[in-house]
Amino acid sequence: MPSRRLLLNAWVVLSLVASVLFVTFALYQGRLYSEHSFMEPARERVTYVETPCSAERPIEQDQPVVMADDTPKWGRLIRRNIVVASMFPHHFDVYMALVWTLQRVLEHLPGTQIRVFAAPFNYGFQSLVEQLGIYRGKRHNSDQLLSFLAGEDGRTVDMVILGTCEVDLRTWHAALLSEWDSRSSSHKFQLVCIVHNAKDTAWQVHITDWARRGAIRLLPIAEHVKTSFRRLFDQHAESANHTLYSAGYENIPIDVHVPVLHLPNLPVKNRSRILSKAVIQGTFDVSRRDYPHIFDDLVSALHEDAAAWGYRPLDGHKYFIPDHRAATPPFELALVGAGTIEIPEELAYMVTVYRDLPYEAFYKLIAGMDIVVPAFADFASYYEDQASSTVALATQLNVPILVTERMRRAYGYIDDDRVVVTRPAAMREVHALKTLRTGDMSSFLQSDPTSSGYSMAKVRGAEEGVRAMFSKGWLREYDEVNRFKRELWHRNEEVVERMLRDL
Ligand SMILES: *[C@@H]1O[C@H](CO)[C@@H](O)[C@H](O)[C@H]1NC(C)=O
Ligand SMILES: *[C@@H]1O[C@H](CO)[C@@H](O)[C@H](O)[C@H]1NC(C)=O
Repeated sequence: MPSRRLLLNAWVVLSLVASVLFVTFALYQGRLYSEHSFMEPARERVTYVETPCSAERPIEQDQPVVMADDTPKWGRLIRRNIVVASMFPHHFDVYMALVWTLQRVLEHLPGTQIRVFAAPFNYGFQSLVEQLGIYRGKRHNSDQLLSFLAGEDGRTVDMVILGTCEVDLRTWHAALLSEWDSRSSSHKFQLVCIVHNAKDTAWQVHITDWARRGAIRLLPIAEHVKTSFRRLFDQHAESANHTLYSAGYENIPIDVHVPVLHLPNLPVKNRSRILSKAVIQGTFDVSRRDYPHIFDDLVSALHEDAAAWGYRPLDGHKYFIPDHRAATPPFELALVGAGTIEIPEELAYMVTVYRDLPYEAFYKLIAGMDIVVPAFADFASYYEDQASSTVALATQLNVPILVTERMRRAYGYIDDDRVVVTRPAAMREVHALKTLRTGDMSSFLQSDPTSSGYSMAKVRGAEEGVRAMFSKGWLREYDEVNRFKRELWHRNEEVVERMLRDL
């Protein structure tokens, strides 16, 4: 019976394919989740993980995002034909999160359009965009933007969003402005600038022309960047210089859109877990992250009490070695980023370096961590002028981030106990990690960093701060974090609706 044989053959082939896929997947999983071997020093232990075939890991919508109740009414939207563009090869995770919000808001409305003009997304982000349905349209190359806008289809575009205005507008300003000026009054577009750093001033001179035309609005990714731009614009608005005061800076709208995506299947952490995996994410650059102090603090803390960290005392060895007979798992610190970094010898077993990970592996690695440590080196910058992507990343991956009250206020959207662990500023990050890990605050309270006779217990507010941190623990409930993110996505939708209504 030929048809039966055919069926049998097909069955055999299918089974083979299935087992190959399964084994590949299992290997991939094992490789990523295997405890990074404690038996070898960490220095230069670099891990590259390929992005797995997307077909093996269907990312189903475990909790579909619900539209805001006040779904925008078709008639109330002024902007319907949107272009999102960037010629800068970075920050696509930021502007594609906005595309995702736009797509949710516009999805069921007739006659709306979103087009993306950008270079191919690297590090496997393109396949995530497809798997997660972040953007279901076609990606055009950024060098086609200007000719598209001037062409037949482009004439009806009424909003142009630039992914990194600090770079994009420096290149496109003149051409975009002349395109704007050449259009009839019914075909003008709004320019939306996603901005990242208020101290990057080279492009800012171009804002004036757009402001005068009432055609620009800003979209930073955290509250403090908005505050910083508002302050700058208020100064221009009251300037004695007629070029500036006459441009209408006072009324340039600035909103915050937080780039947090929806990643399903994030790990649920066991409530009785001991804090043992911390991560510092960012370029390996001491002007951005304070690696030297973190390392110094860790080395001193290990000398003082190695057992608290799950390690054996140094006892003349070069490295602190994990104590696998200890009741608690040893503490690990992952450094995830790009560049090169020297790890102190003593910490060779504790610190693992990951660099240039593709997105899927990067997300997976960080999602498996217990806590994100910002370790900012330049507070003035990260609390005032620019937003660190590590904050949105932690939120996106359901990993609590270790912050101070100042940081909560600066970023705004993380001013919420559901997603952060708040330490008193007088408690260094490493001391906070130890305290959260051991559940014992006495070593902090008894410590006297300046040997002045004033232990931390006597310092105003320190003890209350630690008690408050303690009372909430470090683990955050999966459902609570997800509820937080839904609220965040809802606020993002409202921001997009404001933009589309020219509010
Ligand atoms: C006024 O401001 C513009 C834009 O910043 C600048 O180019 C110009 O030199 C200023 N004029 C004076 C008189 O300072
Ligand atoms: C959580 O961890 C505890 C202690 O290690 C264990 O007894 C318990 O089974 C774990 N619970 C789950 C759901 O894994």
